[in-house]
Amino acid sequence: MDRIRIVGGSKLNGTIPISGAKNAALPLMIAGLLSEETLILDNVPRLADVAQLQRILGNHGVDIMSAGKRPGDHEYQGQTLHISAKNIIDTTAPYELVSKMRASFWVIAPLLARMQEAKVSLPGGCAIGTRPVDLLIMALEKLGAELTIDGGYVIAKAPGGLKGAEIDFPKVTVSGTHVALMAATLAKGTTIINNAACEPEIVDVADCLNKMGARVTGAGTPRIVIEGVAKLHGARHTVLPDRIETGTYAMAVAMTGGDVQLSGARPELLQSALDVLTQAGATITVNNDGIRVSRNGAGLSPVNVSTAPFPGFPTDLQAQLMALMSCAKGSSHITETIFENRFMHVQELARFGARIHLDGETATIDGIAKLRGAPVMATDLRASVSLVIAGLAAEGETMVNRIYHLDRGFERLEEKLSACGATIERISG
Ligand code: EPZ
Repeated sequence: MDRIRIVGGSKLNGTIPISGAKNAALPLMIAGLLSEETLILDNVPRLADVAQLQRILGNHGVDIMSAGKRPGDHEYQGQTLHISAKNIIDTTAPYELVSKMRASFWVIAPLLARMQEAKVSLPGGCAIGTRPVDLLIMALEKLGAELTIDGGYVIAKAPGGLKGAEIDFPKVTVSGTHVALMAATLAKGTTIINNAACEPEIVDVADCLNKMGARVTGAGTPRIVIEGVAKLHGARHTVLPDRIETGTYAMAVAMTGGDVQLSGARPELLQSALDVLTQAGATITVNNDGIRVSRNGAGLSPVNVSTAPFPGFPTDLQAQLMALMSCAKGSSHITETIFENRFMHVQELARFGARIHLDGETATIDGIAKLRGAPVMATDLRASVSLVIAGLAAEGETMVNRIYHLDRGFERLEEKLSACGATIERISG
């Protein structure tokens, strides 16, 4: 299994190109199931999760062509996918595939909307909590589907097609909003989603659906209205930049010191995280090419942060912030409100000497002057990258094991960081 070796202590200086957002690319690819015509997606990141979803969609009969690089393309330029779901040959998403990637459960929405049936394996728990799908099921039932659970599968049918309805989510859910939104595009009549997630990735999917002929308004607000249409057509859409990748590299720079241009980043996608970084002592400037982050000399100030749905501080940056605060001058408090068990990085950060105390959903981090490199391993994507950030600032050598999590969500991580002066390499095997 590949590992990443880091020798910490170098400041980061240079430019990091920001890739397309994983959490937009995945639902956008799934939205390709809604139309017989081809959906072309540009700026799709080259990630293990994207490749896995290609296999899952292939199993339903979707043809996906990945256009190669053209002369003049930047080395980091994302790929263009041509997704053609002309013939859906199978409406079952089997356990072997769905269990590898939670978001693949979302295929239930377009399959049901277009084919009036779907049989999709329950995704099960994962390293960051139980992560149920009850609200996704509730939304589809509201739209008139009949759902049963049998042998670990959700079997969904809507013989006369889905019908528009009012869906009230009792809590903000990104997955629930994606599923309700996709399903409602082909439902008869009007659907209203109340307490919808406002994440930028929802807006990106809604924009793409509208290009495909859907009639969606209000995405990005808690009330989304969808007028169902009979058919969706082909379209071309560019995946928005990854705000979590942006925030992760911004925190890496704040941690090591230095000066880095995050090229292609969009500040409005992560304003709350940028505010926290400013409070911690980083200098953030916005320019035509994206965001520039620097920290010179002065130490880090502690912060108190709670994760929250967008536009609040994202849970997907919580682990990275914790790594950063482990070197702040004083005590920080970080409360995780979205997932009940997203603290797997705490015990690993402790291997660097970090002083973190957990009390329920709140972590207290007592900053120390210097972390020391260590062998570490993480159990989820964002936790893994928090260990990379710690390793970049730590004295001596860090070996990050089990890095397949990183490959799920960070494109060419070690190349991007070493181009800015970090000593970081992948060790194969
Ligand atoms: C998405 O997960 C992201 N995944 C996650 O990113 C992200 O952490 C999360 O949203 C929150 O921003 C993708 O977009 C592929 P939710 P999702 O539905 O949609 C509970 C990463 O590292 N809930 O908003 O699964 C749930 O348990 C990943 O890239 C129910 O109770 O998140 C959680 O506590 C990790 N019942 C809360 O809602 C349901 O039916 C929010 O979950 C559905 C969710």
